[in-house]
Amino acid sequence: MSKSTDELFKNVISHAKEYGFVFPSSEIYDGLSAVYDYGQNGAELKNNIKTYWWKAMVQMHDNIVGIDSAIFMHPKIWKASGHVDGFSDPMIDNKDSKKRYRADQLLEDKIERYAKDGKTDKAEKLEHDMNEALTNEDLPRLKELIIEHEIACPVSGTRNWTDVRQFNLMFSTQMGAVADDADVVYLRPETAQGIFVNYLNVQKSGRMKIPFGIAQIGKAFRNEVIARQFIIRMREFEQMEMQYFVRPGTQKEWFDKWKEARLQWHLALGTDAAKYRYHEHVKLAHYADAAYDIEFEFPFGFKEVEGIHSRTDFDLKQHEKFSNKKMQYFDPEVDPETGKPYGNYVPYVIETSIGLDRMFLLTMINAFEEEDLSTEEKQDSRTVLHLHPCLAPVKAAIFPLTKKDGLPEKAREIMDRLKLDFNIQYEEKDAIGKRYRRQDAIGTPFCITVDHQTLEDDTVTIRYRDTMAQERVASADLEKIIGDQVSW
Ligand code: GAP
Repeated sequence: MSKSTDELFKNVISHAKEYGFVFPSSEIYDGLSAVYDYGQNGAELKNNIKTYWWKAMVQMHDNIVGIDSAIFMHPKIWKASGHVDGFSDPMIDNKDSKKRYRADQLLEDKIERYAKDGKTDKAEKLEHDMNEALTNEDLPRLKELIIEHEIACPVSGTRNWTDVRQFNLMFSTQMGAVADDADVVYLRPETAQGIFVNYLNVQKSGRMKIPFGIAQIGKAFRNEVIARQFIIRMREFEQMEMQYFVRPGTQKEWFDKWKEARLQWHLALGTDAAKYRYHEHVKLAHYADAAYDIEFEFPFGFKEVEGIHSRTDFDLKQHEKFSNKKMQYFDPEVDPETGKPYGNYVPYVIETSIGLDRMFLLTMINAFEEEDLSTEEKQDSRTVLHLHPCLAPVKAAIFPLTKKDGLPEKAREIMDRLKLDFNIQYEEKDAIGKRYRRQDAIGTPFCITVDHQTLEDDTVTIRYRDTMAQERVASADLEKIIGDQVSW
């Protein structure tokens, strides 16, 4: 990371804390690694991102419905899904520092270093060898590569490594009072399984016809060993997932459609398309026959924000096997080739899965600007979040010009009217310029000032966040002016 991008990222993190977006969890106890809390503005921004997703994925599709399944599920679900046996990272310990690392992460850091030093051949060769070892789950080979490339422990500086072992990422706990093996339950590592096990309940109760989708927003938990880059990799995070159930043989067509539709969802927020790219998975997860990531260019490089996976009928077939319950759908539509109904089958599934916290960070980084407003006469600057008005935590702030002459009362009267429709903030402390800056810093698109003229003709000054332009408008027009910008 170059100095300026490194600085930008640090500034976004401290801005997020200073203005009530994201706090380290349990901060007064020195924090809890890879766990974060969302503050008053963060919770609003997060809710708005969820609403944007829910509206686009559920409300705009008459064949997609949303559910909210429990975090705790029957432990056999995770056996069936492959998570008990296969959801793990290759770990290696340094014997001197007693620190544990992800073997693939150590290698990736080395590849990056080679690339930075212009050793492109070495970088490419190591990447190839690492991918081959990961695909073959060849743990001894991963260790060999770490030794061969003289990778030292970042803490002790020594190369005294243990063997590479698989480390399961699921958190487990006990259900009920007695702690024995039979009572072990897991905190879900993805929301998707709650959809799979409910798919027939939804299909039957909603009389859904294939193709149809089930969407869900909810918490997921992973015991990530390496916690890095703020809210990019957390141990408790939120996912927004949609499973789209399709007729076998049509999965490629739907995969292509959803891959495109999901990128468009991101771009509709006005983000520069050059900041996004697709990344095709070479090493596929155990359930997938195709997978692409949508990556965003963070200050520390391109990172996955969302995955689009063609999950075949793997999950439903596994649940059929482990639960002994039929997972088939009866398709009454007539196959033009045979002239007969398609009949019973286990559907194939296309999944779109986006990390809400990564989307949140992307949104903050994209919106953040330290703007130089200096003129010949004076130095000036402001920090502003150019958030899309639909996503902004506060839609408008109302300021009485002074704290007397009935202006606060008039301002509160306007606020009471507007807050029926929008999240509004009232501020009377400090000079107007300072109040503007505080609202710029949380991305409020409109600031409304009530002055003595307001008492005479019921007009106010409205100031626009991005241009800082001001105009005089009738107070009665405020709902329309704000609504035009912030309504979905
Ligand atoms: N159901 C499929 C699934 O869970 P995934 O690629 O493991 O796929 C989907 O996760 C998305 O969840 C990722 O693209 C990422 O945005 C987010 N995500 C995964 N692990 C995360 C973590 N530890 N912290 C924050 N977000 C995470």
